Amino acid sequence: MNDALKGKTFEESMVETAELIQPNDGNHLGNVFGGKVLSMIDLTGAMAAMRHCRTIVVTASMDRVDFRHPIRIGTLAIVKARLNGAFRTSVEVGVDIFSENPLTGACCKTCTALVTYVALDNKGRPTPVPPLICRTPQEVERQRAAEERKRQRDQERPRESCPNGF
Ligand SMILES: CC(C)(COP(=O)(O)OP(=O)(O)OC[C@H]1O[C@@H](n2cnc3c(N)ncnc32)[C@H](O)[C@@H]1OP(=O)(O)O)[C@@H](O)C(=O)NCCC(=O)NCCS
Repeated sequence: MNDALKGKTFEESMVETAELIQPNDGNHLGNVFGGKVLSMIDLTGAMAAMRHCRTIVVTASMDRVDFRHPIRIGTLAIVKARLNGAFRTSVEVGVDIFSENPLTGACCKTCTALVTYVALDNKGRPTPVPPLICRTPQEVERQRAAEERKRQRDQERPRESCPNGF
């Protein structure tokens, strides 16, 4: 088998990033604005997807973004990304964002998201990704649930094409 397509564990691609939220990231309420949060989700999720696929990836869809609590300016935003499932040329990544008070260490989960990335070859075409090695019943269930969401997404996604030459 092509070595690039050897199975990988969930742990191999996990990513955790941290960022101190600055005043220019915020809205007039003193909280980070939603677009900044989406950017952090997309970037950290893409890092996990690239670690798994070892190719360039593009974001195909972002769904179930739930903003549960605000993230205050001056706190740390901890972003954790982990693969949920690997399919033929795409992967689903689960991203959680926590807000940590840097003075007390108090921490709260503020946002969760599911993001699908597609692996691209050097001509920009979708290319196969390595399978996930599921070692525990929880990991088997994680992949199974991701496959179910993917089936639903594939049924619902729009298929219209762009005009010639676009
Ligand atoms: C994502 C993209 C490469 C898919 O290309 P395509 O020609 O539709 O490819 P296919 O129909 O062969 O699908 C390839 C894979 O993408 C998945 N996919 C395509 N569109 C998707 C969507 N909207 N949501 C989730 N998955 C999607 C398919 O399920 C398939 O997965 P699989 O191979 O694991 O089964 C293409 O739509 C694209 O380039 N979109 C723009 C991406 C972009 O600019 N992102 C933002 C900046 S990074």
